[in-house]
Amino acid sequence: MRALTIGRRAVCAGLASLPLARPSLAAGAAPLIARKATVQLAPDGYPASEVWAYDGQLPGPLIRARQGARLTRRLQNDLEVPTSVHWHGIRIDNAMDGVAGLTQDPVAPGGRFDYDFTLPDAGTYWYHAHTSSMEQVARGLSGPLIVEEPEAPDVDRDEILMLGDWLLDPESGGFMEPMAHPMMMSHGGRIGNLVGVNGRHDYALTAQKHERLRLRLINSANARIFVLRLQGMSGWTVALDGMPLTQPEVVETEIVLAPAQRVDLIVDVTAGEGAPAGLLMLRDDDSWEALVDVTISGRSARTVRGAPAALPANPKMDLPDLDGARTLTMAMEGGAMAGMESAMFEGERLGFRELVERGQFWSLAGQVGRSGTPFASLSRGEPVRLSLTNRTVFPHAMHLHGMHFREVLPDGGFGPMRDTILSLPQEPLEIAFVADNPGKWLFHCHMLGHAASGMTTWIDVA
Ligand code: C2O
Ligand code: CU
Repeated sequence: MRALTIGRRAVCAGLASLPLARPSLAAGAAPLIARKATVQLAPDGYPASEVWAYDGQLPGPLIRARQGARLTRRLQNDLEVPTSVHWHGIRIDNAMDGVAGLTQDPVAPGGRFDYDFTLPDAGTYWYHAHTSSMEQVARGLSGPLIVEEPEAPDVDRDEILMLGDWLLDPESGGFMEPMAHPMMMSHGGRIGNLVGVNGRHDYALTAQKHERLRLRLINSANARIFVLRLQGMSGWTVALDGMPLTQPEVVETEIVLAPAQRVDLIVDVTAGEGAPAGLLMLRDDDSWEALVDVTISGRSARTVRGAPAALPANPKMDLPDLDGARTLTMAMEGGAMAGMESAMFEGERLGFRELVERGQFWSLAGQVGRSGTPFASLSRGEPVRLSLTNRTVFPHAMHLHGMHFREVLPDGGFGPMRDTILSLPQEPLEIAFVADNPGKWLFHCHMLGHAASGMTTWIDVA
């Protein structure tokens, strides 16, 4: 059993370097009800936890639809606070994007909102609250959204693994307060002391030797970057952030999954009966621990198969020639141990200390948080290159709403198509996309405490 240990060590590192601010503190389907529920998150012997969850389930109910289908879902807010739903990674109609204060009004307690949009792309997506997301996602408001290819790949099973973590108070079973914790927000974010999959700390599977599984990994954690390894299984990466790779790629190294990222793997079980198998995660102390145990039992009639075929491409995955593309640059600044000189916040230029006093720690292109004017106003269909300079000492999982992008590689080639990319400290990163989806789109760090304390901006596509 995974012990419930409180990660104070990780959280407190670097405390002295930062002035401590006050803790400021589917078609016709049934509605998706955001409500409180009590679930046993922690191991037996610890108290149950009160969560906020869709339909009272953690993760929320699986939404599965076919590519090209229309998804209609009514959100019913039975919480005591306003909320909204964002359909992460869906190249969606802007009015349905779920960003409170930008694309819709937050849905008041007792209120409803009808989401209605088409699903242009097949793949592995997820949905989560996008009103006070730092708190609402941490409390459990997220679920998987799977869009099926017209023809499913040849696998024996399709397993969704929604990875997450929870920062619990072992005495009460409740979430450790405060949610807006200045030290976490200014460092690596809210990292849980209990890690799990599909809402369980002991999620397990059984499989047979030679079985071929499609594993859909979704990182729904607030801030944790998962570093993963396969044991007793070997296979291929076939999609990232929902978007198929042109060719399946053999999994040879660790799989790094930043917050909000997804990876689709097709794996063959190589372990024999009784041999260890599963998905391992790297712990802080550099040891590997089973995140999902796979028990191998029985014998499969199947024999070894060859490499899987690539998944069918989604529409509009190509980037045009970028000569003449609009070029944008964005410095990412702030946080503990680096800070920044000053930045604009609510129309005023403030120094770092003043920002910290206001619970703000980060800036994008000199601006703290979302302002009334977009970072960029783009014309529809315009190709864009965006250079990011990470002047902080932390990694950030940068997510663009409404459109996927590709990394521009140093040799001028393009990386795989993604909606969330990890920016490492001091490493230059350039992404490119076509601004082909009109509307107001957020660009933010998916370490949700960073997003809530400055690392959020937006672009406008006319
Ligand atoms: Cu997954 Cu702006 O979010
Ligand atoms: Cu960040």
